[in-house]
Amino acid sequence: MKKIEAIIRTEKLEHVKNALADGGIMGLNVTNVIGRGVQKGITYQGRGGMPVTVDMLSKIKLETVVKDSDVEKVVNIIIEAGRTGNIGDGKIFISPVEEVIRLRTGERGEGAI
Ligand SMILES: Nc1ncnc2c1ncn2[C@@H]1O[C@H](COP(=O)(O)OP(=O)(O)OP(=O)(O)O)[C@@H](O)[C@H]1O
Ligand SMILES: [Mg+2]
Repeated sequence: MKKIEAIIRTEKLEHVKNALADGGIMGLNVTNVIGRGVQKGITYQGRGGMPVTVDMLSKIKLETVVKDSDVEKVVNIIIEAGRTGNIGDGKIFISPVEEVIRLRTGERGEGAI
């Protein structure tokens, strides 16, 4: 099993969430985060012409734990639904998950996802 953590644009959340549901992925967590990528935020022209830099940008972190066999599908869904082609589109991190347990039934492993 793998945990897929995707940092995406806040305005892309609805689309990504719906696309995941269409792909059969229901369980997920969503968190509001602030962060930065390689450009270290954005600089824009403020009032009076002075450049203003905002180094921590608001993004959404979407987390979902999936079967190994679903990883590529999920990654492709997130890219397709979350991408604009501009800098700041986000990033996906994939890490191993040792165990999943459904509290109600005690099921473990992929069956509990
Ligand atoms: N290496 C990283 N580790 C953890 N979080 C990251 C990392 N890189 C980016 N993020 C998170 O992802 C968000 C979006 O990153 P962003 O898409 O700007 O990445 P990038 O590497 O700068 O790519 P791009 O050149 O397309 O902008 C950041 O605001 C931050 O929240
Ligand atoms: Mg960036």
